[in-house]
Amino acid sequence: MTPIPLQIGILGSTGSIGQNTLRVIDRFPGRFRVTALAASRNVDELAPQVRKYHPEVVAVVDATHGDALRAQLGDYSGRILIGADSLCEIAAWPSIQTLVVAVVGFAGAAPTLAAIDAGKNIALANKETLVAAGAVVMPRARQRSVTIAPIDSEHSAIWQCLRAGAHQEVRRIILTASGGPFRNRPLETFATITPAEALDHPTWRMGPRITIDSATMMNKAFEIIEATWLFDLTPDQIDVVIHPQSVVHSMVEYQDGSVIAQLGSPDMTLPIAYALLAPERPKGVTGPQALDLSRANTLDFAPPDPARYPALDLARRALAMGPTACAVLNAADEIAVAAFLDGRLPFTGIVDQIGKTLTAHKPVSDPNFEDIVAADQWARDYVSGHLPGTPAKAVASTR
Ligand SMILES: NC(=O)c1ccc[n+]([C@@H]2O[C@H](COP(=O)([O-])OP(=O)(O)OC[C@H]3O[C@@H](n4cnc5c(N)ncnc54)[C@H](OP(=O)(O)O)[C@@H]3O)[C@@H](O)[C@H]2O)c1
Repeated sequence: MTPIPLQIGILGSTGSIGQNTLRVIDRFPGRFRVTALAASRNVDELAPQVRKYHPEVVAVVDATHGDALRAQLGDYSGRILIGADSLCEIAAWPSIQTLVVAVVGFAGAAPTLAAIDAGKNIALANKETLVAAGAVVMPRARQRSVTIAPIDSEHSAIWQCLRAGAHQEVRRIILTASGGPFRNRPLETFATITPAEALDHPTWRMGPRITIDSATMMNKAFEIIEATWLFDLTPDQIDVVIHPQSVVHSMVEYQDGSVIAQLGSPDMTLPIAYALLAPERPKGVTGPQALDLSRANTLDFAPPDPARYPALDLARRALAMGPTACAVLNAADEIAVAAFLDGRLPFTGIVDQIGKTLTAHKPVSDPNFEDIVAADQWARDYVSGHLPGTPAKAVASTR
């Protein structure tokens, strides 16, 4: 019997995860219907997607690109939404069953909450949502019986490995990290790392923010926080190990001493397909032999060096301070990464700025979403006001 197509909305369809999601959809004709597509501004990528998939609704967040989208979609009969609120409108779109949240940054949090409130299942790539707002998102998802399926390859791996035992039997999880492009670079040269060097990731092809975050290891710091929320674990149950080949995507250690790992080639289509179809594992997600371990494959593992990767300690600090500190960690990183890419901050300045912002933050206990939004905004202002060359100016308060 042919299954009824699953109706999918994709926020961030023009990005790396968005395009990979459409690749997965193409591999399973009839299994999915693309109901909604949304991007920030890349109309040249979005318009051909609309012509190919005929969604009911399409959105661009950046209103200055609205006219360009309308012009490119002259005879399109669906709805065109423009502006910042359009993502939340799509998130609650009646016919969507599963929403893929693949935008980058804190912009993913409000639409994720809107989707939960509308009872949609979520395939979540946007880790910033859980880093910054996990304290609000996860209880609400549980309350609404909404599934949050992780797309991040490490969390997908953990999600898969957790099927091998009960939650109370888990001793710890082990997140793998490639170590990024500077695993062997002399530490004393880190201040001279250029954006082009940092954007050249050895194993993964991703958007610019996550690529820089992988080079600083802030990405792994975020993944520690993301894992506490997704899997209801304490920070001391989450370890990180350097694994340069990115073949073991992560592991779960059970109390009997067994360690269950998930392996695969570094290809995001696999975790995306699992997030959309789990627990089903259909043929055709990857090629006939996704991973050939008989071909001169060495799998290396090493503990992370704290001097090389100080970002990991920042995650543990933020977790100890509480949810608004985790929101601050993410927002400070968003601003610091943009400043590094613009040449306004050295590579080593990214983690430095985040650490200083965390120190200045006064956590709010038991925050609601408005408190988290306020902490996010405070951190953005704080970092922007403390970038090198910024005239000394008081930042309003230390939330
Ligand atoms: N790439 C990976 O392999 C990977 C793996 C694990 C997790 N993730 C996570 O997945 C998310 C997306 O990553 P990516 O690598 O796909 O990023 P990306 O290639 O930079 O794509 C980002 C997408 O979000 C849209 N966007 C950017 N800013 C936005 C805003 N303020 N409001 C609405 N939409 C916005 C972009 O639209 P325009 O194209 O119009 O700018 C684009 O569609 C991130 O949270 C990342 O951490 C990615």
